[in-house]
Amino acid sequence: MEKNHKRTLVTCALPYANGPVHIGHLAGVYVPADIYVRYLRMRGEDVLYVCGSDEHGVPITIKARQQGCTPQDIVDKYHKIIKDSFSGLGINFDIYGRTSSEVHEKNASEFFRKLYDEGKFITKESEQYYDPEAKTFLADRYIVGTCPKCGAEGAYGDQCEKCGSTLSPEELINPKSKLSGAEPVKKKTTHWYLPLNRYEEWLSKWILEGHKEWRSNVYGQCKSWIDGGLQPRAVSRDLDWGVPVPVEGAEGKVLYVWFDAPIGYISNTQELLPQSWEQWWKSDDTRLVHFIGKDNIVFHCIVFPSMLKAYGDGYILPDNVPANEFLNLEGDKISTSRNWAVWAHEYLEQFPGKEDVMRYVLTANAPETKDNDFSWKDFQARNNSELVAIFGNFVNRAIVLTHKYFGGKVPACGELLDIDREVLASIPELRASLERNIEGYHFREALKDAMSIARAGNKYISDTEPWKVAKTDMERTGTILNVCLQICADLAIAFEPFTPFASEKLRKMLRVCICAGVDHRQGEQQTVNTYKPGEGAAIHTVSVASSFDTAALRASCPGAACNVCLNWDKLGDAAILPEGHEIGEAELLFAKIEDEAIDAQLARLEAIRAEREAAAKAEAASAVTPQKDECSFEQFAKMDIRTATVLEAERVPKTDKLLKLTIDTGIDKRVIVSGIAQFYSPEDMLGKQICILANLTPRVIRGIESHGMILMARQGDGKMRFITPQETLANGAEIG
Ligand code: 2FM
Ligand code: ZN
Repeated sequence: MEKNHKRTLVTCALPYANGPVHIGHLAGVYVPADIYVRYLRMRGEDVLYVCGSDEHGVPITIKARQQGCTPQDIVDKYHKIIKDSFSGLGINFDIYGRTSSEVHEKNASEFFRKLYDEGKFITKESEQYYDPEAKTFLADRYIVGTCPKCGAEGAYGDQCEKCGSTLSPEELINPKSKLSGAEPVKKKTTHWYLPLNRYEEWLSKWILEGHKEWRSNVYGQCKSWIDGGLQPRAVSRDLDWGVPVPVEGAEGKVLYVWFDAPIGYISNTQELLPQSWEQWWKSDDTRLVHFIGKDNIVFHCIVFPSMLKAYGDGYILPDNVPANEFLNLEGDKISTSRNWAVWAHEYLEQFPGKEDVMRYVLTANAPETKDNDFSWKDFQARNNSELVAIFGNFVNRAIVLTHKYFGGKVPACGELLDIDREVLASIPELRASLERNIEGYHFREALKDAMSIARAGNKYISDTEPWKVAKTDMERTGTILNVCLQICADLAIAFEPFTPFASEKLRKMLRVCICAGVDHRQGEQQTVNTYKPGEGAAIHTVSVASSFDTAALRASCPGAACNVCLNWDKLGDAAILPEGHEIGEAELLFAKIEDEAIDAQLARLEAIRAEREAAAKAEAASAVTPQKDECSFEQFAKMDIRTATVLEAERVPKTDKLLKLTIDTGIDKRVIVSGIAQFYSPEDMLGKQICILANLTPRVIRGIESHGMILMARQGDGKMRFITPQETLANGAEIG
């Protein structure tokens, strides 16, 4: 990594505290960020890792209303669930704050006020929808109606969740307020706007000229926004949940959630490091990296940088914004409202001890360049045939055989053969590729490199067959196992960013610790070195509080003395574990996932899909077509509608839809050809009394002359039933 910085500030998009996080969030933002942070820390970089809940915005108020509680109740509930999910998955931020905190409210408020005082905003009066009964302005999400694009009921004023179209409230057919059901009216209101147009040239220079190395999806989105011409953006809303606009006469107005949320990154840093936060935000030698999903690109690349630029005062801008695309689930878009998701907290409950498996699978399938799919079968296959069969199997063989032949002590490395030299030489190459990939934000590829080390080890032990060699040549067996154990140590290092739980388990088996860097939790620098003499499992914290100092940390680790403290620099070293070093018992690194566990997940999703389809069917059935144009009584009276009885019925040959019916109309016996074969068999129709339009001009259908039409009722989903009098009447009774 080119080093023209002293420290790296990594932020992860603040998740909305209106629901738990799911695998889409994890794959898009949090798992890649965590890999990156763990890697940098192992390389001795000073990293601050900041996240927190985004606790404002309209969806939170809607959820509170639906559940009959306060928005604060909602955010309290989900803040805890989300925070626990992250730590359950080994994603340990230095701080996981909240935008409802006092520090944040003060900070966001002051931020707005400075821009306001310096005339950085413009105000605009506009007409917004207003609920005359609830006496409040309505955010687009609070207005529902019929989607003009697909006809679905319940489309929101900003989007139809059925067909995915972006909408504006004006487009909705029959708009209603979600609060009172009243028809919304337009009312004038004034808001503050950040005139992004003023920053267009500057943004163009900074991003389009200066950051051509950004991911193409990120660069492309920025380019299209900037090329399309930037417009002023409202930074306030008429709402009662959020940070109040700190200006006189702004009662009932709060900061727009996308104005206050990114300031949350700064507030959370302040909360953690009240004395030194500015070092992270205002020093040119700090590198800022925002991990986000693709729907957040404009806010992190255009809006927030413009806010910081407007604010001045030395705020730094992101060095990179590695945004991911979206993850789908079993071929369908993940959707919170449709419960089409794998929820992190549920996963942790249902798959205890398998935190790494999810991290691994989400990285292997990371939607880095395009949307990608998660499937449970793939999850199972990757666990069973990659983690278990390659990584776990190799480690297990190496450790079990070391116990069997060498009493659990690292055997001496004798003369190396070509096969040994080759496998040892492959590791520094894989390490170089892994480093390039992580530093270039290509985490999928980086994981492949780490896995290639395991593959190489697994192939090496299979090819050299130490269990056979042991029958004749103990010295050679020792050399082979020495090489295998060195590769095990390599794996403990290389997999620490990706599968930290397995890496820790492996360290325990090898009885080594690792210098996994320094974190800033609790406002102090602390190590996350793990060491317990002879075991290497417990957290060994060394306070290096005065200044960031990896060398001091490493030197102070008790494992350093006996040369069993691993660090990134040792990856690829042919002699990481000294001869005679005693290792622990073999434990399974990964366990097979059986079909039952996967089938249970698939059954759950299938049930959700079936429920959704049934609901969609019911909705389609109840959809009604609009009323037709008026017709006069005279026009109606021309229609001769009567009762009749079916005497004979047969299918019209070579057709799917047509029945030929001979009917008694009371006036005559005649033939009608009717397109109802999808709904009725000839037997169903025999003897039934029906209603017909008798004076319809005869038509020849498939060579049969049809004299009239059967009256049918058709519901929204196309299902049809014939009309019959409530009691049997004489044939030919007139209807009208
Ligand atoms: O899209 C989201 O989930 C937002 N809550 C992300 C906010 S990121 C930051 F700006 F706070
Ligand atoms: Zn629609």
